[in-house]
Amino acid sequence: MSPTTHRIAVIAGDGIGREVTPPALAAAAAAVRPQGIGFEFVEFPWGCDHYLKTGRMMDADGLDQLRHFDAIYLGAIGAPAVPDHVSIWELILPIRQRFDQYVNLRPMRLLPGVTGPLAGRGPADIDMICVRENSEGEYAGAGRIDHPGTPDERAEQTGVFTRRGIERIVRYAFELAARRPRRLLASATKSNALQYSMVLWDEVVAGLQPEYPAVTVQKYHVDALAARMVTNPGSLDVIVGSNLFGDILTDLGAAISGSLGLAPGANINPERRFPSMFEPIHGSAPDIAGKGIANPIGAIWAAALMLDHLGHGEASQRIVRAIEGVLAGGRVRTPDLGGTAKTADMTGAILGRL
Ligand code: NAI
Ligand code: MG
Repeated sequence: MSPTTHRIAVIAGDGIGREVTPPALAAAAAAVRPQGIGFEFVEFPWGCDHYLKTGRMMDADGLDQLRHFDAIYLGAIGAPAVPDHVSIWELILPIRQRFDQYVNLRPMRLLPGVTGPLAGRGPADIDMICVRENSEGEYAGAGRIDHPGTPDERAEQTGVFTRRGIERIVRYAFELAARRPRRLLASATKSNALQYSMVLWDEVVAGLQPEYPAVTVQKYHVDALAARMVTNPGSLDVIVGSNLFGDILTDLGAAISGSLGLAPGANINPERRFPSMFEPIHGSAPDIAGKGIANPIGAIWAAALMLDHLGHGEASQRIVRAIEGVLAGGRVRTPDLGGTAKTADMTGAILGRL
């Protein structure tokens, strides 16, 4: 194998994950081919079907199998026959946590040619990126249920926030903001009601601020920030938030960008001690799975984020420009964008531009 071949673990998963993953891999391969770079894609049949057959979402030593890949590409996980907390907790969250992918990076842009749901807003108004904490917080998995099935049943779900965990994600966000033209950072908090975790969060943000004098940082309570994303999205650039806050704000961000099917995500281990994982932010979409109409753009854009992480920034940009070109052309639109194109049509149009 030449030194310019990247080994990628591929978990296409369930539902439309299987339909949008091949387009994403094809775009990644096409974008780097001119530079003589190749991919070895190794597929893992993990997900809900695997669970229904074997009782496991992935092999018992699955994380060890993934450990030495250059990156992981994930389609989507989830099926009606498997409880969502099982599918998420036995596959996606273990990968994010074991591989210390503590940055979840999610660009949110209204691309030219796409009609978003916000009246009077265009591409210049919606161009943000969320840096979501991805390793602790509300999704730390801490908690308990007492007296199950009785009238006294009581559930406790504990958020776990560490100074180290907050500091590393907020620092990443400051550095990203410093590299963007507007140099704006919005910190999502809720320190009025969450008097331990979010007070610590605010303290860490304030403590780092002097190290980044070029960045203007503003804290917003998360509810007000959600409203601001709708009423004044142009005032937002980089957003940093906890695991839960970032999860919710990025679905909102995808919605105001025109479709959940457009939005990409990267789960990054910045120190590169472990592989990072790239995925569209949408789920397995059982309502449209099998029809061949899923929008592949979120998945293809996620492949572009993967190329960037692997050091191919120019090829990554070429994929983003191909997506922009097809959307701006306005001819090829999948049903989520109000058209009748199939996944294959959209994929063909993007690959044609590569
Ligand atoms: P979802 O993202 O799968 O679908 C929400 C809505 O958006 C549906 O109406 C769907 O048709 C539409 N949609 C999503 N992606 C689309 C695309 N590429 N093109 C066109 N339309 C698209 O979220 P939902 O319905 O809440 O969850 C379905 C399953 O996916 C559940 O089992 C859930 O746990 C799982 N899920 C998995 C995720 C992952 O693998 N990272 C993330 C979110 C949900
Ligand atoms: Mg989500």
